[in-house]
Amino acid sequence: MELWEDERGKKYLLKGGPEHTLRADYVGARLLGKVGVTCPAAQIVRSDGILKLRLDYLEEWEDGPIVLPERFHDNKEIQDGFFVDLLLRQYDRTSWNMMFQGDRVAFIDHGASLHSRARGGYKGFLPDVTVQDIAFVLEHPERSGHAVNEAYGRLVGVENGKLVIKDRPRVERLLNHFSSTLGNGEGIVNSAIDEAGFSDGRRSVEFLKKQLERLENEATLSAPGSREESMCLGAVDTLTRMIATGGEATYLKKTIMSRASGIVDMFYEALRT
Ligand SMILES: Nc1ncnc2c1ncn2[C@@H]1O[C@H](COP(=O)(O)OP(=O)(O)O)[C@@H](O)[C@H]1O
Ligand SMILES: [Mg+2]
Repeated sequence: MELWEDERGKKYLLKGGPEHTLRADYVGARLLGKVGVTCPAAQIVRSDGILKLRLDYLEEWEDGPIVLPERFHDNKEIQDGFFVDLLLRQYDRTSWNMMFQGDRVAFIDHGASLHSRARGGYKGFLPDVTVQDIAFVLEHPERSGHAVNEAYGRLVGVENGKLVIKDRPRVERLLNHFSSTLGNGEGIVNSAIDEAGFSDGRRSVEFLKKQLERLENEATLSAPGSREESMCLGAVDTLTRMIATGGEATYLKKTIMSRASGIVDMFYEALRT
């Protein structure tokens, strides 16, 4: 992460990392912005030939603490992000991936979206949204038994393998909003994937094949039944499907739209019962 200043003295950050992670981070910023979550504006750029994510610098905002302060446990601005994080299978919405200014909240770091893991590498990103997906997105990645953040944990939960709606009025309001902004959001999704620079065709497929080979090897080396193994196997399945579809971009566009309608169906059903 490097801090820069443009000609007019405006500060910005350049974030580096694996290309698919930076692109996933960008897609997260676009779709979160679409539902009204405050995110620093993001742009995919090249600096000395190297791909970077350019972010508006949030000056006078504070870093998120390790644990979300109690006064944010019911925070609507945070909860606005839930369906987008689920859509993108983004499992890293801890309070340290938020920034704060008084009562205001901004989301940063969406690198664990799509087929990317939080610290690079690959994970599964499939067309169906399952109850396991919901549990995965809700679970704190480092504090076992805790919600990733309490504001998400107060909305819904997974108990005995079943989706449980905890705050019906909020979930209903959020779902209506999600459904009207992204339920048929093909235009915005397609442009986010294209502007992120995900590609299709032979180059994309050749690259994916190399990654797939490495992942298949990693899967055989990881402990049977471990989280690591399941991440690898999900990634193997996902990259295999991407190759069959003809590249990352087409696969991601279709998969996001399929997940959006899956979320709408699943949660309206849960609200009815
Ligand atoms: N837009 C921003 N404005 C100001 N500080 C930021 C911004 N984005 C990130 N940071 C700072 O950089 C740190 C790391 O950023 P993050 O995107 O979470 O990267 P990582 O993927 O390494 O976790 C954050 O905890 C925060 O302190
Ligand atoms: Mg982070």
